[in-house]
Amino acid sequence: MGIELGMPAFAPPRPFPEPGAAPNAETPEGLDGLVDRYGRRATDMRLSLTDKCNLRCTYCMPASGLDWLPKDKVLTAGEIVRLVGIGVNGLGVRELRLTGGEPLVRADLVEIIAGIRANHPELPVSLTTNGLGLDKKAAALKDAGLTRINVSLDSLHPGTFAQLTRRPFLDRVLAGVEEAARVGLGLIKINAVLMRGINDAEAPDLLEWAVTHGFELRFIEQMPLDADHGWTRDGMITAAEIRSRLEERFVLTPDPRNRDGAPAERWEVRRRTSLEVVAGVVGIIASVTEPFCADCRRTRITAEGKVRSCLFSHEETDLLGLLRSTGDDAAVARRWQEAMWGKPKAHGMDHAGLGAPDYVQPERTMSAIGG
Ligand code: 5AD
Ligand code: SF4
Repeated sequence: MGIELGMPAFAPPRPFPEPGAAPNAETPEGLDGLVDRYGRRATDMRLSLTDKCNLRCTYCMPASGLDWLPKDKVLTAGEIVRLVGIGVNGLGVRELRLTGGEPLVRADLVEIIAGIRANHPELPVSLTTNGLGLDKKAAALKDAGLTRINVSLDSLHPGTFAQLTRRPFLDRVLAGVEEAARVGLGLIKINAVLMRGINDAEAPDLLEWAVTHGFELRFIEQMPLDADHGWTRDGMITAAEIRSRLEERFVLTPDPRNRDGAPAERWEVRRRTSLEVVAGVVGIIASVTEPFCADCRRTRITAEGKVRSCLFSHEETDLLGLLRSTGDDAAVARRWQEAMWGKPKAHGMDHAGLGAPDYVQPERTMSAIGG
């Protein structure tokens, strides 16, 4: 096992430009992992398994859906397992998140997870899903070796859920969450996006529900990645606003555990009615107003096998062509490294829509990139 890259996987970090110095333009020879010009090292791999989805969340997809990729342009199970191997064995990937679109729509999902697990017994492998169909698959996913699951859920009211996702499937999502908990799929994290005037007032109820069930709720600031280009800086609910809404019912204190490159700022949650008990933890992902680009450890691969060094990149580097044309894993690794070397410093999103030129929305939506 293991691929030959002509270099040790754990060489000491190479020297990087001093902060503020002009970054190297050329990809240096002999890189030892997925590093970029600003000294960041990507160890967290996000791999999209499909661009398809069975919901139409307003902050992501248009009502009519998108043109799905033809099947032959999407990574096969074998290609996925091979890519993960290249990342883990040769490039220092230490954590894998499977995303979409909606990964549960892939019929071979269990096979993919089992294949990855067979090669990497210790690798944390999590899945981000909208929960549809999870009630039927949770046990098989657990058996295949899935470590953990993140379920997207923005409302506990059927009408609000249907308004946000354009589909009346709240009960099915809740059944999925319940089954995932029953089979013991790790700590279940729930992702919620708040939209003004639709579900923002529900934030404390969502948190009450999550802590009661032992789930970790994470609020994600709405990002300008929707197909309809409906995002506005004034319209979005900021992390500060989320905190103050939650503080109407809860006391939040910073979680003493180190954030350690994780995007969510975590808070211990106490109910105002019983301050001595820590009821749970809530995360707030302030991608727009408190960006964490400087600590970013992510490398993203789209369902088409393209590297995106950042969610907001305008460039993609194709690995699929190379995967299909050569058995040379070191060549694939090298191209992946080159793509990551060009990772942008920051996204400039906080200024989007304010007339500042530093943020231009990527053409792809979240569903097509992979969350
Ligand atoms: N802004 C913030 N979060 C988004 N997601 C999808 N689109 C957006 C957006 N525009 C979230 C989904 C899911 C995760 C993968 O990303 O709700 O939880
Ligand atoms: Fe589907 Fe997720 Fe996009 Fe909603 S946010 S439409 S569940 S990909």
